[in-house]
Amino acid sequence: MKQIKIFDTTLRDGEQCPGASLNTEEKIRIAIALDSLGVDIIEAGFAAASPDDKKAIMQIAEAVSNTRVCSLARAVERDIKEAGEAIQKAKKSRIHTFIATSDLHLKYKLRMSKQEALKRACDMVSYAKTFTDDVEFSAEDASRSDRGFLKEIFEAVIEKGAKTLNVPDTVGYAFNDEFGDLIKYLKENVKNIDQCDISIHCHDDLGLSVSNALSAVLNGATQIECTINGIGERAGNTALEEVVMALKTRKDLFQAKTNIDTKKLLLTSKLVSNLTGFQVPPNKAIVGKNAFAHESGIHQDGILKKRETYEIMQAKDVGFANNELVLGKHSGRSALLDRYKTLGFEIQESEIMKIFERFKNLADQKKEIFDEDLEAILEDERGKIGQKYTLDLLQISTGNKMLPTATIRLLKDGKKEMISADSGTGPVDAICNAINKITGEKNILTEFSVKAVTAGIDAVAEVTIKIEKQGRTFTGYGADTDIIVASCKAYLNALNRSIRAK
Ligand code: KIV
Ligand code: ZN
Repeated sequence: MKQIKIFDTTLRDGEQCPGASLNTEEKIRIAIALDSLGVDIIEAGFAAASPDDKKAIMQIAEAVSNTRVCSLARAVERDIKEAGEAIQKAKKSRIHTFIATSDLHLKYKLRMSKQEALKRACDMVSYAKTFTDDVEFSAEDASRSDRGFLKEIFEAVIEKGAKTLNVPDTVGYAFNDEFGDLIKYLKENVKNIDQCDISIHCHDDLGLSVSNALSAVLNGATQIECTINGIGERAGNTALEEVVMALKTRKDLFQAKTNIDTKKLLLTSKLVSNLTGFQVPPNKAIVGKNAFAHESGIHQDGILKKRETYEIMQAKDVGFANNELVLGKHSGRSALLDRYKTLGFEIQESEIMKIFERFKNLADQKKEIFDEDLEAILEDERGKIGQKYTLDLLQISTGNKMLPTATIRLLKDGKKEMISADSGTGPVDAICNAINKITGEKNILTEFSVKAVTAGIDAVAEVTIKIEKQGRTFTGYGADTDIIVASCKAYLNALNRSIRAK
């Protein structure tokens, strides 16, 4: 079995997609989850992009225990210096520097000759080596670059000490056989390439990113760059969960393994979805709600006779619980904490009281409590940490022949009470208007979605809201058995994030 390194770029390429911006605390939460999932390298951001990006990388470098922490840098001195400073405190660090190599990019974007790009790549790899021994070099737009030039630039950067050579299909243009053949060509023709990892980075513009990544593995790639739920620039990147499960399920074909603890895939997917506000479609492979649901009678009959007739993987292997009744009204604190532990969550001492109180309240409203309910409570509570405004009281009057009106009492910094009322086109609009009156904040609500976390009329509702403020998008999450209360919490969550960013 050959070992495939998983390089996760959710916090860099993933965060690049419009509307996915995360604050530092959220990035740290995702990084800790990726560390526990077992990814080999976390690309924690692009240090030179902004002071916030750099700060997040620095804090991630100190927060994770096993994973290598990497910053992206263009092949320019300032970027490499910022990246080098950002990763200084990491137990294991990496700088990932890149320059475009296709004729198109060289001529129109960089306005550079091939020789100038080659010299720049060599100089910058050498400079990056003064900060860390682990330097990765990417030939941007490699799949549309001249193969002879790729060979030349890769050989040159190996001489300067690059340890990983990344071959990006930057615009998602390559087709499986073609991409596999490029990897094979590089493996067979680049001098000393056996001293390096061959990495790939595929975009999904034609829906081929996962299959291109797998084709590369068959032809010699030893590192896959990917993101949770496949988020990323434009149509996104190779989905980590898909590529990892493909390697695991088709071991016979790929003869390869990864360090990923696949039972944590669903949990990590939900965390990224909740924090970015990008919902996972029900039919999404591996982590979609229906990925293991069998509706057809013929399929159900087959499964009952022999599971393998219609199932190539087991739901529990990616983290789906059996939807069993886990806890009830009489369950105690230790049973609750134990269940969270089984689900893969670490509950901090400071969180226990509040989470237990939420659990007891929910058990009063809802007879059966499922794993999904526990996850929603925790996410909702964690989302409140560090919020300037929190909900104290909400009262709504609405109906088909009356003006929807909301009365709201908020606490500012946990203490000062502020109260207001307003009307709107519907109850959610009335809530937003009343909150805006209190806080004096203005924004536009651009997206609103509600989802029941389990079946049944008494289910907990998860609401995700996106607001736009001065050209930036902020996401909010809230969970409650009452959709209106969940909406109010989600709006406050998004608003608090926008205030913090300010
Ligand atoms: O898509 C791309 O080419 C990139 C590089 C920076 C690796 O994201
Ligand atoms: Zn990319």
